[in-house]
Amino acid sequence: MSDENKSCSVPPPGEPTATPSTAPMWIIVVTLILLFIGGIYFDRNSGWFNAKVYSPYASAENLDACQPQSGAAAFIARGKKTYEAVCGVCHGPDGLGKPGQAPPLAGSEWVIAKGFNRLAHIPLMGVAGSIQVSGKDWNMNMAAMGAALPDEDLAAVLTYIRNSWGNKASSVAGDDIKHIRAKLPAGAQPMTHDMLMQMPE
Ligand code: HEC
Repeated sequence: MSDENKSCSVPPPGEPTATPSTAPMWIIVVTLILLFIGGIYFDRNSGWFNAKVYSPYASAENLDACQPQSGAAAFIARGKKTYEAVCGVCHGPDGLGKPGQAPPLAGSEWVIAKGFNRLAHIPLMGVAGSIQVSGKDWNMNMAAMGAALPDEDLAAVLTYIRNSWGNKASSVAGDDIKHIRAKLPAGAQPMTHDMLMQMPE
């Protein structure tokens, strides 16, 4: 006990006294245990505020888009990327086309046809003159925008446009494009509506 008790210096009555008091032992122990558990939790789950864990992703969607994809999803994602770089300028990222610039691909009978033979000829050869899309007449022309794309990329683009914006149709493989490319009509003239209708769908 403290010396105060032995020395007889009694404070005057009414005067407040401050005596040192220690925290109970159990609080110290519990605090240490909690700190220890917290430390382990932090160690396992925090990623130690590593920039690779915290900084690169701007949003949950962004993080999702960066996950490795496989099979059909990856093929469609590849098609989307190429579409937006090569076709989207005219047909729009939403596939709705632009008045005076390009007809829509969303809901287009050329895009969602059962077969993709005619469809594939359009980017491979280009198309010119009057063509009807969803009951509207377009009379413009499109260069062979897909002719320079590798088979796999064009197949991915066609698979993407056949399965986006509400469209639903079978997918196209790189080999399909390879076969169609090998039998393209001679000459570099763009397809017309009549030429397309004369070939198998
Ligand atoms: C420079 C603008 C432009 C670009 C780029 C372009 N197109 Fe077109 N596309 C057109 C125009 C204009 C027409 C209508 C041609 C006509 O009236 O004969 C058309 C027509 C079409 C059609 C038939 C009509 C329809 O709407 O279904 C398809 C399919 C098509 N384009 C697909 C593509 C694909 C796939 C790409 C990319 C590989 C592409 N286009 C790139 C301008 C473009």
